[in-house]
Amino acid sequence: MQRVFSGIQPTGIPHLGNYLGALRNWATLQKDHDCLFCLVDMHSITMPWEPEKLRQQTLASTACLLASGIEPTRLYNQSAVSAHARLGWIFNCISRLGWLNRMTQFKDKAGKNRENHSAGLYVYPNLMAADILAFQATRVPVGDDQRQHIELANDIGQKFNHDMGVDFFPTIEPLIPPQAARVMSLRDGSKKMSKSDPSEQSRITLTDTPDEIAQKIRRAKTDPEPLPGEAAGLENRPEARNLLSIYGAMSDRSLEDLLSEFGGQGFGTFKTALADLLVEKLAPVASETRRLLADESHLLEVLRQGAARARSVADPIVDEAERLVGFLR
Ligand code: TYM
Repeated sequence: MQRVFSGIQPTGIPHLGNYLGALRNWATLQKDHDCLFCLVDMHSITMPWEPEKLRQQTLASTACLLASGIEPTRLYNQSAVSAHARLGWIFNCISRLGWLNRMTQFKDKAGKNRENHSAGLYVYPNLMAADILAFQATRVPVGDDQRQHIELANDIGQKFNHDMGVDFFPTIEPLIPPQAARVMSLRDGSKKMSKSDPSEQSRITLTDTPDEIAQKIRRAKTDPEPLPGEAAGLENRPEARNLLSIYGAMSDRSLEDLLSEFGGQGFGTFKTALADLLVEKLAPVASETRRLLADESHLLEVLRQGAARARSVADPIVDEAERLVGFLR
């Protein structure tokens, strides 16, 4: 059975992009794969953070993931499993500065003011490679924005194998959904939907109320043209394309199918149908999240048991990696 690993930063309530790009796929894969899903709290301190907020957000993300259908036994938080940090350090010494310099996510996050960012943000992709390879996982369900990081993880794993003269780490395959692999902001079709966008209106979160969902979709940016009858008519219309791909992914319908229904009409009818669809699918997740959040000790117990299971898989693998590197025990 193929082993699947994936992670999400617990820096806020997951949004529709996280759901369509990753979480929905996680819930499906766990039915017939050996899965581990991780709240990557160590990655969350690569940018400035507040400790109490991180604690609360990790609990809220745990509740939200469980409410989205992730099985409790698969879920844990990264810092509770030391194998991540141990292998992450080895990978800091395997990875090359030239490789890290090419990472677009670092450039986006650091912006012009590189000097003032943490060293952790720079070596983030090395830790991400360790997350996956500490389990010798071969499949990683992620959104399109993580593609470059997975390529780097493969480079690191292969360089380790080459340098140590072994065939130890497997090749990793990213599993990127065919539709909605990059959900865009509702306010700007050229920007990714993101937890860090200062505008709440830019994203739908998995705990939004039906009214909030309907209002955000109503206010979502569009253009004055009616929807086209064919996909070719979506060129240079990123906002229209984004809303259609959200609808398509949520309803498992193709773009062509949607355009044959809504093409030629203004956005009014389409937006009402999209809001209804989102409310129908997301309202149960929001109410289950609220229910789970009321029992903090249950959430902590889920994470504790998940971490114990994760340790039992990763510790022997990282022990062996350390032996291959030449560390004495
Ligand atoms: P993060 O926390 O930013 O996002 C979690 C998952 O959601 C996907 N995603 C999106 N998909 C579609 N449209 C969007 N707008 C969108 N925004 C986010 C991401 O692709 C991701 O799959 N570096 C990772 C976390 C990580 C990880 C790992 C992932 C750490 N270690 C090992 C896989 C394997 C991140 O910051 O994801």
